[in-house]
Amino acid sequence: MTGQVSQGAIPQTDPSASYFAYQRPIDAAISRVLKGGSYILGGEAAAFETAFAQFIGVPHAVGCANGTDAIELALRACGIGAGDLVFTVSQTAVATVAAIERAGATAVLIDVEPETYTMAPHELSRTLKSPLLPGRPAAVVPVHLYGQSADLSPIFDVARVYDLRIIEDCAQSHGALYRGRATGSFGDIGCFSFYPTKNLGAFGDAGMAVTSDPGLASAMREIREYGWRERHVSARIGINSRLDPIQAAILGAKLGNLAADNGRRQTIACRYDAGLAGLPLGLPMRRPDSVHVFHQYVIRLAERDALRDYLNARGIRTGIHYPTPVHLQPAYRNRVAAGASGLGVSERSARQILSLPMYPQLSDEMIDRVVGGVRAFFS
Ligand SMILES: Cc1ncc(COP(=O)(O)O)c(C=O)c1O
Repeated sequence: MTGQVSQGAIPQTDPSASYFAYQRPIDAAISRVLKGGSYILGGEAAAFETAFAQFIGVPHAVGCANGTDAIELALRACGIGAGDLVFTVSQTAVATVAAIERAGATAVLIDVEPETYTMAPHELSRTLKSPLLPGRPAAVVPVHLYGQSADLSPIFDVARVYDLRIIEDCAQSHGALYRGRATGSFGDIGCFSFYPTKNLGAFGDAGMAVTSDPGLASAMREIREYGWRERHVSARIGINSRLDPIQAAILGAKLGNLAADNGRRQTIACRYDAGLAGLPLGLPMRRPDSVHVFHQYVIRLAERDALRDYLNARGIRTGIHYPTPVHLQPAYRNRVAAGASGLGVSERSARQILSLPMYPQLSDEMIDRVVGGVRAFFS
């Protein structure tokens, strides 16, 4: 019985399905790099940087080792470090906050909007008015969570008042639009992860920072490679965070399919919406002025854990992104600063959110099985 269930199990995500979907060009790309003999940065990394910058609609892209490093490079290129406050959210991957602290800055965690789970602009504004801030406000890092843009317009309004840099965390929003433009093209710098499960995923770690500012681009290029302005000349203190050319070639081979893959994610989301309509649970909310690319399809209900167990017993795997907000993680608890009204919305949603299976190769039959499983739980 167990064997039967696991054989037919529906994974929550399945990066290997994207390999098998695009196997031929991916194999060709890997083989090209191996035969080419250039194994650090080089032409493959540069070619993918150019292609990805074009996809986002900005002139510069700087490849690096992962999305966490992209945020660190971005902050450091903006000159942000010790004594500086960087405002972001707690309902995110720990990586966002880890990168801020790696840059030497202090994170201040702002609560999210209950419907979209992205930074609540009025909370950012309220927090900045506080006379008790633990440093100098320097930057805001909105996270475009689950594939949907944060509400950038009011965040930019606040940032202008306080002269804050804006670094977009686009790790979950490849191809998502806000008011007709790609996320990543609004802020000083947009930071992407190509972690295997992302909408554009490598088969290993990879990341990218995009910008319209040539000075920031060259600063990030220096910082990613020992601070080198030219080979063996360290003009500043840097790190080693280079984009692996094998991953770059793979990503270049997959980039042409990103729009179609995002389209399939949106179709899956609509099929879930229709199938789950009328049930006593919260469905994902689309911001009217944005295009959601459904990195995750997140439902919300008080009996989350019971539903998760129920689906799991029927071979339907789900995820929780994320079960513990950053400020309640052991390494951050009682240490990291919270916004003016606390983080109650983030804490409540962490107890209620559930990510259903979501990846482009999910078949209609699999979606219907997920829908049937959720409906059966309530009947
Ligand atoms: C919102 C968010 N920010 C940052 C990251 C960090 O990316 P990486 O895992 O490539 O370092 C991730 C992905 O894990 C993420 O989901």
